[in-house]
Amino acid sequence: MTDRKQEHIDLAFKTQLDAVFKDNRFYYEPMLRAHPVELKKEFLFLGKTMGAPLWISSMTGGTEKAGLINRNLAKMCKEFGLGMGLGSCRKLLDNKDHWDDFDLRDEIGDQPFYANLGVAQIEELLALKRVDKIKRLVSELRTDGLVIHVNPLQEWFQPEGDRFKKSPVYTISELLEKVNFPIIVKEVGQGMGIESLRQLLQLPLEAVEFAAFGGTNFAKVESLRAREGIQSYEPFTKVGHTGEEMVAFVNRIISEGKDIVCKQIIISGGVKNFLDGYYLIETCNLLSIYGHGVNFLKYATKGYDELKKYVEGQILGLRIAEAYLKVRNSE
Ligand SMILES: Cc1cc2nc3c(=O)[nH]c(=O)nc-3n(C[C@H](O)[C@H](O)[C@H](O)COP(=O)(O)O)c2cc1C
Repeated sequence: MTDRKQEHIDLAFKTQLDAVFKDNRFYYEPMLRAHPVELKKEFLFLGKTMGAPLWISSMTGGTEKAGLINRNLAKMCKEFGLGMGLGSCRKLLDNKDHWDDFDLRDEIGDQPFYANLGVAQIEELLALKRVDKIKRLVSELRTDGLVIHVNPLQEWFQPEGDRFKKSPVYTISELLEKVNFPIIVKEVGQGMGIESLRQLLQLPLEAVEFAAFGGTNFAKVESLRAREGIQSYEPFTKVGHTGEEMVAFVNRIISEGKDIVCKQIIISGGVKNFLDGYYLIETCNLLSIYGHGVNFLKYATKGYDELKKYVEGQILGLRIAEAYLKVRNSE
């Protein structure tokens, strides 16, 4: 006790915070709740029961460590009741060399679990009349459905990148007519503007995932990989929309009274921690959860125990925020 008191006195001198550092997004209400006890609070999302509003954004597969990383992520989803999108399953369309890296239904149990393909592959398979390949992928991996990533800037930056012959929204609409499993659409780290969102929300999608600007940025990744000539596209790496901007777009679209068919949102891309996530899902007027890509990847590579510790801390942080913080109304 004496040591602790002494420590408090020493540290107090070092922790004088200037008011400019105050997080003005919230009212802090310390009087109203006991400390949270339960990590899990069940609710329905994507037609499944989740234990916390957290999503593992589509990432890796097919590389040396990918199987282990994916297995850790899937096991963690089952333990905490989260959902997960696989990284691009393009490799699996033609051979099964890396199948085991993606074949995670046994590990993840009944949590939301989605395959992933780029809109360029969808466009190509539609043109070849090979939608059966997409259906087989989803059914053999026993995923709940498919995440389609739409990444025109990344493709443009890649010397080996695909070129879209039709607009992504046209390709997605065409696929929706030919399959009956749920589809989620996302960007890959630059988000999208209000008109793209408006058109997506009018389609019978299961959800839209933002993959917003402010975190991992694949245009930037490609510009770092770039060989001669590609550098000239570098200014595009600074273009995009943050999660906060995109929540405002969604709210504006709802307020316009347009027919919205898609009613679930995964807010991801640059969501740094539980406070950002809590703020964004509380301000979004559609049912939403939040997701991370690189944050999960960082811990998943360190092994299951590290990942579990990180996720436990994140969910506890969220539960404490729910107990004591209220988002300020826009005043
Ligand atoms: C290593 C890595 C691989 C990724 N691969 C894919 C992919 O295959 N398909 C996809 O839709 N998005 C992919 N992404 C993008 C993420 O799903 C996510 O949209 C992006 O990382 C932004 O989230 P963050 O800022 O939390 O990392 C990848 C991201 C990372 C970091």
